[in-house]
Amino acid sequence: MTTTDYIRTHEKRFLEELFELLRIPSVSADSKYAPDVARAAEFIKTKLLDAGADTVEICPTKGHPIVYGEKIIDLKLPTVIVYGHYDVQPADPVNLWETPPFEPVIRDGKIFARGSCDDKGQVYMHVKAFELMMQTKSLPCNVKFMIEGEEEVGSANLGQWVRDNKKRLAADVILISDTSILANDLPSLEVGLRGLSYIQVEVSGPNRDLHSGVYGGAVANPITVLCEMIASMKDKNNHITIPGFYDAVEELSAAERTELNKTPFDLEEYKKDLGISDIHGETGYTTLERTGIRPTLELNGIWGGYIGEGSKTVLPSKAFAKISMRLVPNQSSEKITELFSKHFKSIAPKSVTVEVHPHHGGEPVVTPTDSVAFKAASMAMEQTFGKKPIPTRGGGSIPIVALFEKELGLKSVLMGFGLDSDLIHSPNEHYGVFNFLKGIETIPLFFENFAALSKK
Ligand code: BES
Ligand code: MN
Ligand code: MN
Repeated sequence: MTTTDYIRTHEKRFLEELFELLRIPSVSADSKYAPDVARAAEFIKTKLLDAGADTVEICPTKGHPIVYGEKIIDLKLPTVIVYGHYDVQPADPVNLWETPPFEPVIRDGKIFARGSCDDKGQVYMHVKAFELMMQTKSLPCNVKFMIEGEEEVGSANLGQWVRDNKKRLAADVILISDTSILANDLPSLEVGLRGLSYIQVEVSGPNRDLHSGVYGGAVANPITVLCEMIASMKDKNNHITIPGFYDAVEELSAAERTELNKTPFDLEEYKKDLGISDIHGETGYTTLERTGIRPTLELNGIWGGYIGEGSKTVLPSKAFAKISMRLVPNQSSEKITELFSKHFKSIAPKSVTVEVHPHHGGEPVVTPTDSVAFKAASMAMEQTFGKKPIPTRGGGSIPIVALFEKELGLKSVLMGFGLDSDLIHSPNEHYGVFNFLKGIETIPLFFENFAALSKK
């Protein structure tokens, strides 16, 4: 039976199974969902075993477990590690979902549910592609699955687990489907991911909330101070003002920048899609460069004072913000967190005190385009999309990729099938049925090409 026949025959069941996984609210950030996260891990384990894995283990960590499974057919053959995550981002704000986040439905050929694209739908393509290769007796190399439950909260425990399991993670390459393509008729392969420094800050003024009339005008307002401090962290060219921030940033050559800017991109379409009249960013760089090769600093949340119904005249005692910085080669997350922290403290006026709490971080990566694995992926996509994929530099982060390189000496291939418009992390996240099935069709070809090219 051919791959396409197998997919056509089992398509309905594949989707039903994915729906079952999507119904489990495996939100890693919120401890009230811990039993659901555990249930999602069990589900992946069962499905990997059903598909034909030799062994599958649920490996506990200090946080959520890692599902690890193997199918070893011949130790002389190459080995592929498939990495993905079964945890999802919180569904909030839930009232903005057209249909409930954990009740998947198909509308307009798209599967709507939290995690449909990021990353359950893409992980499940691998489970089904594996089943397909087992059933059609076409698995050409060994495969190891490492599906974690803490990616969306920074993979704090995966690093230790990888160090403790170096031996059994012996492999030739890591294959990850957790990124996007440019469009369904424009396949692409991400060859870079940004790093991350994520920080929470707290600004404290008076020792208690005050009456904004009795004290207002005479005491520093922590919310105002925080806003001013944050605003000062970018200059008029949207250049970040933290001393030393750009020191390690790798500048691309003119030729490399020209190449990157050849990526199909329609600015009018981009603005229209986002409902904005103008774009915004660092002077001297295009939108593709601003998200692909330049670091940035974004405010993710800010709060303090009274935000309930009606009004309350209050001069708050405290203000808070969550701030993330996306990093590019060769910035170091630790170093940037340190520079931020030092700078933030140095610009605080005497009228307040500040605290800086680092959350999590991750290093930027660039993956090779001249490797056997990249060629295998590129060929596979060309075979199924009918077009050679374009290498792109993604703006998102998968911090664990740099860690795999460091700890295991293994490079990753980022063969994702999502679209930037899939609303990952947002209300109404969705994933195209086309993309789900295209993934299942392409993955076995990656294995086939990788095994064949590795022989040469
Ligand atoms: N799958 C995403 C990363 C991604 C999305 C890469 C789209 C490329 C294109 C991943 O699940 C994610 O959301 N990562 C977080 C980092 C993490 C430490 C919370 C991110 O990028 O914000
Ligand atoms: Mn993801
Ligand atoms: Mn994500």
